[in-house]
Amino acid sequence: MSALTNFSQSDSRWFQNDRFGLFIHWGIYSLAARHEWVKQRERIDDAAYQSYFAHFDPDLYDPVRWAREARKAGMKYAVITTKHHDGFCLWDSALTDYKVTRTPYGKDVLTPFVEAFRAEGLRIGFYHSLIDWHHPSFPVDGLHPQRDDIVFRQREQGRDINDYRQYLHGQTRELLTQFGKIDIVWFDFSYSQMSWEWSKGKGKADWHSEALIQMVRELQPGILVNDRLEIGGDITTPEQYQPRTGFEINGQPVVWEACQTLNGSWGYDRDNLDWKSPDMLLRMLIDSVSKNGNLLLNVGPNGRGEFQPEALARLGTIGEWLRLHNRSIYGCSGSVLTPPPDCRYTQNGRRLYLHLFAWPFRHVHLEGLEGKVEYAQLLNDASEVKRIEIDPHQQAQNTTMSGQAGVLTLELPIQPPPVSVPVVELFLK
Ligand code: GLC
Repeated sequence: MSALTNFSQSDSRWFQNDRFGLFIHWGIYSLAARHEWVKQRERIDDAAYQSYFAHFDPDLYDPVRWAREARKAGMKYAVITTKHHDGFCLWDSALTDYKVTRTPYGKDVLTPFVEAFRAEGLRIGFYHSLIDWHHPSFPVDGLHPQRDDIVFRQREQGRDINDYRQYLHGQTRELLTQFGKIDIVWFDFSYSQMSWEWSKGKGKADWHSEALIQMVRELQPGILVNDRLEIGGDITTPEQYQPRTGFEINGQPVVWEACQTLNGSWGYDRDNLDWKSPDMLLRMLIDSVSKNGNLLLNVGPNGRGEFQPEALARLGTIGEWLRLHNRSIYGCSGSVLTPPPDCRYTQNGRRLYLHLFAWPFRHVHLEGLEGKVEYAQLLNDASEVKRIEIDPHQQAQNTTMSGQAGVLTLELPIQPPPVSVPVVELFLK
């Protein structure tokens, strides 16, 4: 691996401290209101897709409100789609007319976004699609919306990837020089492992990923780059699943971030009812941190520029929980200890946090902590939780519990505290 792709030069400490970010998927597909891949899934050609371009006018777009909702939700960074696979650009790029300033809205949306989120204290990330189903030089392949249109494919056979690559690098340069300090660049995605009888997927050779990363690091020293250029990355990015364990490369833990949707769609999807419950989303955040990872939680704003009520409700629930419990997330990682069933541990030095996904009847037994905890409390109200040291030789009899060497038992109230996920804060000796 060349020195320029040596990802250890990035400083990921802030990222591993902050743990929780907002993903925003927004573009003209938000008018179609049925997933950001709508052009590909429904094989819509440019002429038909143009109606979304011609009617994009998010009159209620208010990035200050977006930023405040994100901050109140406890999010510490935000990643927005500067361009998604359909090729539509959210900023006034000099390299294309397929951009927001040419729609009825007529204004750059990226600059006010960056300014609003920075003003709320959040760091900035740019998602940028490597794929571009609009650009005239992006070679048609098995993922393209016109993949089944033989006439189109034959007519477009002469497309020159070198021309598209120049565009890709040129727009990346625009994004990393026109908007101040950018903390994350989130390229998406490579698929050279895919092939069809008449075409093959695109990857690092098509993007010139090494040169792209070299430019990124020259323009934004210290920026974090994700892992979808096929040359590794600072951040491993499991998508729409919670990994069984944290990630390691060559036996060493790596920085990783689960990216998740609220309902299965990244882009606004009006009729989608697959909303994850607020508690499920909260458990995903806790689960990620318990495995030394982050959560990047997505909102797909609608064509007027607003977050759906269901999204706002979920952000609100998470924000209220973090208002009381944020020290069990920020600055925390997982623990080497194995938590009880239905629980997760997060830890920050000598503070160990027991997250109870299911409230047990009266007791919870913590292996390996006998004699190691000097105090315990419910984090939400700082009410003491009694620790019971049971003689390891104690046999079970009637209402007497048996003991087990090394186990610390906590006595919990019958009623759980009035919070989504109760947390016991353990002060280690
Ligand atoms: C996948 C999807 C893309 C989405 C991305 C987010 O790559 O193709 O639509 O933006 O995941 O991680």
